[in-house]
This record gives sequence, C-alpha cells and structure tokens, in this order.
Amino acid sequence: MEKKNKVFIATSLDGYIADKNGKIDWLHSTPNPDNNDMGYGEFNAQIDALVMGRTTFETVLGFDIDWPYQIPVFVLSNTLTEIPEKYKGKAYLLRGTVKEILENIHKQGFYRLYIDGGKVIQSFLKEDLIDDMVITIIPTLLGTGVPLFSDLPDKLDFECINSRIYLDKIVQNHFRRLK
Ligand SMILES: NC(=O)c1ccc[n+]([C@@H]2O[C@H](COP(=O)([O-])OP(=O)(O)OC[C@H]3O[C@@H](n4cnc5c(N)ncnc54)[C@H](OP(=O)(O)O)[C@@H]3O)[C@@H](O)[C@H]2O)c1
Repeated sequence: MEKKNKVFIATSLDGYIADKNGKIDWLHSTPNPDNNDMGYGEFNAQIDALVMGRTTFETVLGFDIDWPYQIPVFVLSNTLTEIPEKYKGKAYLLRGTVKEILENIHKQGFYRLYIDGGKVIQSFLKEDLIDDMVITIIPTLLGTGVPLFSDLPDKLDFECINSRIYLDKIVQNHFRRLK
C-alpha cells in the first residue's frame, strides 16, 4: 500500500496552533450550531493510524471526554516512560528519528498516517516527509503562541488542491506536496 503522511490541523490567522499557554479554546470561537466537522470525518476515513507528540497527547488526555480515536495512536516522547494504564492497547509510545519511527509503524502494517502536533509536524517537514496538509484557518490573530511551522533546511513547494469556506468565516486549504 502507498505510504502517506498527512496533516489535518487548525491555525490562527498568524499561524499558531495553540496560544502561549498551550490553550486551544479559541479554535471553537465561531458558532457551529450544527456541529459541522469541517471535513474531519472524511479525512479520518483515509487514515490508518495517528502519530502525535507528547504535548498533543497530554492535551487530548486533558479533555473531559472518552478516548476519541478508533485507530492506533503512536505517541512520540523521550520523557514519558509508559502510556497510562487506561490507554494501553489504544496508544503506543515511540521514540527515535523520524525515519526509525516511520519504519516501525510501517512494519506494523499502518501506512496512511495522520501526523499531529507542531513539533512533530515540523520534524517531518524537515525530512520532507509530509505529503498532504489540510489547514483550517481560524480568523483570529493570537499574536504569539505555539507555531505550526519553523525553519526548514530547504524550501518545499505545495499546490493547493482544494479550498473551502465553513460557517461563512473559516477557510480550509488542502495542500499537496509538489515533487
Ligand atoms: N490547532 C490544532 O489543530 C492543534 C492540533 C494539535 C495540537 N495542538 C496543540 O498544539 C500544542 C502542541 O505542542 P507542540 O507543537 O509543542 O508539541 P507536540 O508536537 O504535540 O509534542 C512535542 C513533543 O513530542 C515529543 N517528540 C516529538 N518528536 C519526537 C521524536 N522524534 N522522538 C521522541 N519524542 C518526540 C517530545 O516529547 P518529550 O518532551 O516528552 O520528549 C516533544 O516535546 C498543544 O498545545 C496542542 O494542544 C493544536
């Protein structure tokens, strides 16, 4: 099966994925009475497993909800020693270089991966290992915060293959790596 690493993430107008305190409540500032999932379900239907950074994992654990994923979640961390008991069998701890991590996940039979968390996405981009990015832009300037992007060794070209407007306020662009 073809290997794909995809991003589905929301940013502020100035490119942050969380505010300076790591909070993401501003993501939900636009009224959404019909609970429009803004393409999340459609995206998830094309994914075999998630790869997320420890910070994003801890954010998810802090939500007052049941475990929200039906597919395996690979949590990257050099500091966590184990996955909390409640999430064993659903989330798995991994560390290493991006290439080692991918090799490990591919060997387990997961090829279409959802890459989540700013630092993790940046480390994949540094190796030119992101194929697709769906970026939903919340029209708020945070001024500072946790950035989606960082320095890269070389420029990477993408093409915009789709653009949608949700709730009359939110633009979502789908970028595909041009190689
Ligand atoms: N706007 C959105 O749609 C959206 C989506 C996702 C997340 N978020 C938010 O964005 C923030 C994410 O923060 P972030 O960008 O700083 O972090 P992140 O990417 O979620 O996590 C970073 C951590 O992942 C671990 N890590 C990354 N690469 C690794 C590797 N190759 N090997 C081992 N460990 C590795 C390290 O953990 P250790 O320090 O444990 O080694 C690192 O500190 C959170 O506040 C989250 O809630 C927002």
